[in-house]
Amino acid sequence: MNIKLSTAKASTLETDLTVIPVREGVETGNAVRELGREIRDRIKARAESASFRAKAGRRLLVQDGERDIVLVGLGTGTAEDWRRAAGTAADIASQTRAGSVAVCLGRGVNGRLEAAVEGFTLASYRFDKYRSDRDEAYGGPKTLTLTGSDLGTAGARERLKNTRSLCEATVSARDLINEMSSVKTPSFLAATAKRLGRKTGLTCTVWQGDKLEREKMNGILRVSAGSDEPGAFIKLVYRPKRKPRAKVALVGKGITFDSGGLSLKTAKYMEWMKQDMSGAAAVLGTMEAIAALKPPVEVRGYIAAAENMPGSGAQKPGDIITYRNGKTAEVLNTDAEGRLVLADALCVASEERPDCIIDLATLTGACMVALGTDVAGVMGNDPRLIAKLIKSGERSGDRLWELPLVEDYMSDIRSNTADIQNIGSGYAGTITAALFLRCFVGDTKWAHLDIAGPAFAEKPKPYGPTGGTGFGVRLLVDYIASL
Ligand code: BES
Ligand code: MN
Ligand code: ZN
Repeated sequence: MNIKLSTAKASTLETDLTVIPVREGVETGNAVRELGREIRDRIKARAESASFRAKAGRRLLVQDGERDIVLVGLGTGTAEDWRRAAGTAADIASQTRAGSVAVCLGRGVNGRLEAAVEGFTLASYRFDKYRSDRDEAYGGPKTLTLTGSDLGTAGARERLKNTRSLCEATVSARDLINEMSSVKTPSFLAATAKRLGRKTGLTCTVWQGDKLEREKMNGILRVSAGSDEPGAFIKLVYRPKRKPRAKVALVGKGITFDSGGLSLKTAKYMEWMKQDMSGAAAVLGTMEAIAALKPPVEVRGYIAAAENMPGSGAQKPGDIITYRNGKTAEVLNTDAEGRLVLADALCVASEERPDCIIDLATLTGACMVALGTDVAGVMGNDPRLIAKLIKSGERSGDRLWELPLVEDYMSDIRSNTADIQNIGSGYAGTITAALFLRCFVGDTKWAHLDIAGPAFAEKPKPYGPTGGTGFGVRLLVDYIASL
């Protein structure tokens, strides 16, 4: 899709569909002023007879000769309202099969350009590589024109370019999550990271096989033991040209399929377990965006990749893993595998002494029970880091809610035979999982994001179809840009 910025009035553009986002309380006639007198009066009359109120999600369609005009309610007009309104615009474009679309941004409101581009492009995303009818299918509009009297500047063009990079990176993350597990093995993730490194200049290192053994990456090795697919540890580094303002480490859970291992899941719970590498996808997507946006911050991405299968070599309940930092963990349930592989990556990340570590993982079903499908849980050892991430969540639309790391619950994961065990009593499963991870970060500032809910949409969302959402990419890029 070609995206253009224009300072022209919408009335002068020839597009199949013209979208006018309207804020609640703004008089409809004023909102559509730039369409010209005649159509303005018609829209006003229609809006009145249909008692159109510009609440978020509301819309009003008016035919004007060859083109359709749609008013979309913006509610109070937050960035998220703009994203959703632009997402609605993309949905209408696909329903009417519009080849060209104009969205009127009006003027003044900061961030609406970025929000409109995000909402429109992300809502237009489809994963159709496995559909035989994709060539006949409508592939979205060819051109999107954003109009606004302040969009003629080099600054606006720069913001458009950066936002497009961010959306492309989010789409890369979605594509990886939506890919089938028999394709996207740990080796596939490693090859993807290598390719990204070659394309962007990021440094990429992959540990597999003997190297994992020499480096005592025993979590990845033990989880991979039940699978024919070798596990992998992947590292990508972005270094800014000048002295970095900060060093941020990102860690992603990359379980390319989670059958549960010998603690086998039932069929229903396995259906969507290709998504269990969404943390890794968020890290890869963020690294891709960072390579394009070039912030003055050093960013290191680490991925712990493994396939969790119940093959004959599989680790068994009661097995004990000795970690790189000397800690031992008893594996009572092989389905609590995410924390086992993340522990390796957290050890390496903290050894390299970053200012902070942020890990992302589809870690617990309990987090979905607590926070549902739209909000990720955040826990950690540094209140300032957590507060900043929550703010980034509000700005980016990737929302977070903090859960407490209750110290007393450590007793839940103490083991009789090892230092700790990989499951708790059954209560507060999200918190005990985070307490397990905390054993591997030392004194590094650290935040853990449990993205089990928002990583994968089982039904369509305001700006994305069913499937991988790319949750975390926009959040992390916002956080890094704020440093
Ligand atoms: N990958 C799952 C968690 C998950 C569930 C992610 C649903 C996305 C959607 C994780 O590895 C897992 O199996 N967790 C167990 C932990 C339990 C055995 C302590 C769970 O949540 O049931
Ligand atoms: Mn599991
Ligand atoms: Zn898992």
